[in-house]
Amino acid sequence: MKVTAVLLAAGQGTRMKSNLPKVLHPVAGKPMIWHALNAIQKSTTEKPVVVVGHGAEEVIHYLGDSAQTVLQDPQLGTGHAVLQAEALLKGKTDLIVVCYSDMPLLRGETLQKLVETQKNNKGPISMLTVVSDDPRGFGRIIRKSDGTVEAIVEEYVATAEQLQVKELNVGGYCFDANWLWDALHRIPKNPKKGEYYLTDAVELASKEGLPVQAIVMDDLEETIGVNTRVHLSEVEVAMKRRINREHMLNGVSMIDADTVYIEADVKIGRDTVIMPNTYLHGKTEIGEGNVIGPNTIIHDSKIGNGCKVLASVLEGAWLENDVDMGPFARLRKGAHLGNHVHMGNFGEVKDSYLSDGVKMGHFSYIGNAQIGANTNIGAGTITCNYDGEKKHATEIGEDVFIGSDTMLVAPLKIGAGARTGAGAVVTKDVPEDTLVVGMPARAIKKLERKTKKK
Ligand code: UD1
Ligand code: MG
Repeated sequence: MKVTAVLLAAGQGTRMKSNLPKVLHPVAGKPMIWHALNAIQKSTTEKPVVVVGHGAEEVIHYLGDSAQTVLQDPQLGTGHAVLQAEALLKGKTDLIVVCYSDMPLLRGETLQKLVETQKNNKGPISMLTVVSDDPRGFGRIIRKSDGTVEAIVEEYVATAEQLQVKELNVGGYCFDANWLWDALHRIPKNPKKGEYYLTDAVELASKEGLPVQAIVMDDLEETIGVNTRVHLSEVEVAMKRRINREHMLNGVSMIDADTVYIEADVKIGRDTVIMPNTYLHGKTEIGEGNVIGPNTIIHDSKIGNGCKVLASVLEGAWLENDVDMGPFARLRKGAHLGNHVHMGNFGEVKDSYLSDGVKMGHFSYIGNAQIGANTNIGAGTITCNYDGEKKHATEIGEDVFIGSDTMLVAPLKIGAGARTGAGAVVTKDVPEDTLVVGMPARAIKKLERKTKKK
């Protein structure tokens, strides 16, 4: 059986008071529409269709080829919105799932249940409802005396009696496709707003004596629709709790989960501890047995196993295993720290590889550099990689000792086993096993290396 989703995303989102289309506002680091697409994936068999209108260009650009799109212009209501997909879908699918794209907490499992219910329904509609004391402006579900669903009444046209109804329209439906295309043409224009409401399809079915199935959801949180920035914040907090809970159930410890912010795509291995006030963003992957935070921000980075990252900021970085860094260290794009690297306070690394066992304890900047194994970077070392026009590379061999406050003026090569004296300004390549001092540094003697030459 072919099942296709139609996601509505053409509305103006006026109440958001934003230049960004509503469905592109992020929740847990992903636009709301990403969450909607993610949720309907499991219960549909065909590529989803997104109805775009307000901010169409931006939404289409974001969607890429993850969905087909149809334009709704002007935007004349939710029923009119679904109708725009008729030309694309008529005769091509058996069931149609319609969802609004402003409900990022709606779970895939709930939509699966919705589709299963419709597969067994003799009537043309299955829909999601919820019972709540807080109506949030949702449509009210009107049932007949025999308990079957009769209609959905929008809040602003409801009578005082109807407003008392606590069963609400969540905004998720599964329709028999053939019935839907015919019914949409018969939905009357709402006299007050001049719009065509999808919700009126329910009354049409009921008048035809066709059963409408309602699934009453018990998780209120899932049903939150985002119409204002207050709702957006509610959803963000709820999503954060959901994501953190999942990680904890998978073996990740959190000392105070309320202060941990993890975006939707982040992966974390077991026995890793996330300390308070930590933000994990983008495509971040963290292995097992690490301690991350407190006070740490990590974007798009990869961390192996057994690392400690204290009060630091990482962006586009890669830590292998047993790295120990912070407090107050910053890794920028292309920073790669090998096994057992130690990076202390106030260091910055960018576009550089620090091989296994490198130590960089205090106040250093390393950019566009390759550093050999077990080399020591003294306090205050700077790779002077930028001449005002271009970036230049620094290559430092293994077992090198860079003295405190050394300026390494790139392009530059420091041979294995070399040393620089404190305050050296190195402007010329340094051969292996050589001590250089001064400004600019000049060779003064040949050295004996303590560790064996490899
Ligand atoms: C809608 C429902 C209401 C339900 C509530 C749940 C209708 C008439 N009302 O109200 O019963 O309780 O959702 O959240 O359906 N859209 C279009 N084109 C349009 C109008 C809207 O694509 O012409 C899209 C919007 O972008 C949005 C969705 O449809 O994603 C719902 O529109 P919205 O204005 O948020 O409807 P609600 O007032 O929340
Ligand atoms: Mg809404």
